[in-house]
Amino acid sequence: MTQLKGKSVYLTGGASGIGRAVTEAFIAEGAGVTVLDRSVERLEELKNQYGDAIQCIAGDVTNYGDHVGAVRTAVEAYGKLDVLVANAGVFDGFAKFDQVSPEALSDAYEMLFSINVKGYFLAAKAAVEELKKTKGNIIFTVSGAGFYPDGGGVWYTASKHAQIGLLRQLAFELAPDIRVNAVAPGGTLTALHVIPPLAPFVKTVDNETKARSIKTRNPLRIAMESEDHVGAYVLLASDCARAITGEIISSDGGLAVRGLS
Ligand SMILES: NC(=O)c1ccc[n+]([C@@H]2O[C@H](COP(=O)([O-])OP(=O)(O)OC[C@H]3O[C@@H](n4cnc5c(N)ncnc54)[C@H](O)[C@@H]3O)[C@@H](O)[C@H]2O)c1
Repeated sequence: MTQLKGKSVYLTGGASGIGRAVTEAFIAEGAGVTVLDRSVERLEELKNQYGDAIQCIAGDVTNYGDHVGAVRTAVEAYGKLDVLVANAGVFDGFAKFDQVSPEALSDAYEMLFSINVKGYFLAAKAAVEELKKTKGNIIFTVSGAGFYPDGGGVWYTASKHAQIGLLRQLAFELAPDIRVNAVAPGGTLTALHVIPPLAPFVKTVDNETKARSIKTRNPLRIAMESEDHVGAYVLLASDCARAITGEIISSDGGLAVRGLS
C-alpha cells in the first residue's frame, strides 16, 4: 500500500462520505492529507484517528482565504503539494424546477453554485502555484449528474456539468505542468446535504429506500458505498496516471449502458 508514498494532498470535504473514504485510502497508501471541512466535530475525530498523517482545517470552501490557509498548512506540514482533490459538495434533493418559488430558486442557486462550483474554482486557484512546482495533479469529484438527467434536480445537475467544463478548460490551460481529472460517482449512500432553501420542496427519504432506488437505477445493481470509489482516486493521484489528463472515470455501476426499462 505505497502508491502515494510521500505525496502531499489537499482535499476538501474530507470529514464525511466519499471525501472521508478517499482521505483514509490516501493515508493508507502513504500520503499526508490536509483536509478542509466545515464539520469541526468530524475533523477532530479524523485528527484523533490519524495524528501526523493528517492536518485538519475547519473552514468553508466558498472562502478563498480558507483554501490559501489549507495549502499553506499542507506545504508547512509535508514540504510541498502534489495533489488537490476538490470534493466538498451539497445537493438539491431532486427538487422539481416547476414547484419551487422564484425566491427559493434564486437562493438555492446562490448557495449550491457557491459551494459546488465556486468552491472548485477557488480550491484550484489556491493550489495552482504549488502544484506547478511538483508537476502535480487535480482531481474533481463530479457525478453521473454531470452527464445525465435525473441524478438530481436542475441546480445539482447544472453544477456538475459546470464542474466538468472547469475540469476540461483547466486540463487544457495547465498542461504540461498539472494533470486535471475527475471521478464521477453514481448515487452513493452518504449524508449528502440538501441545502436549506430547497428543504421545503423535497421529500425526506430513509436510507433503505435510497439504497433500493440507487440499486435499481444502475446496471450492476449496486447500492454504492463511499469506499467503492476510492480506487479511481488513488489511480488518478498516482504516478501510474502520468499520461492521463482531462479524463473522467465513471464509478457508477454502469449508468452509460442503461437501457430503457
Ligand atoms: N452521495 C452521492 O450520491 C454522490 C454521487 C455523486 C457525486 N457525489 C459528490 O461527492 C462529493 C462528496 O459528497 P458526499 O456524498 O460524500 O457527501 P457528504 O455530505 O457525506 O460529504 C460532503 C462533505 O463536504 C463538507 N462540506 C459541504 N459544504 C461545505 C463547505 N461549504 N465548506 C466546507 N466543507 C463543506 C461537508 O461538511 C461534508 O463533510 C460531492 O461533490 C457530491 O456532489 C455524491
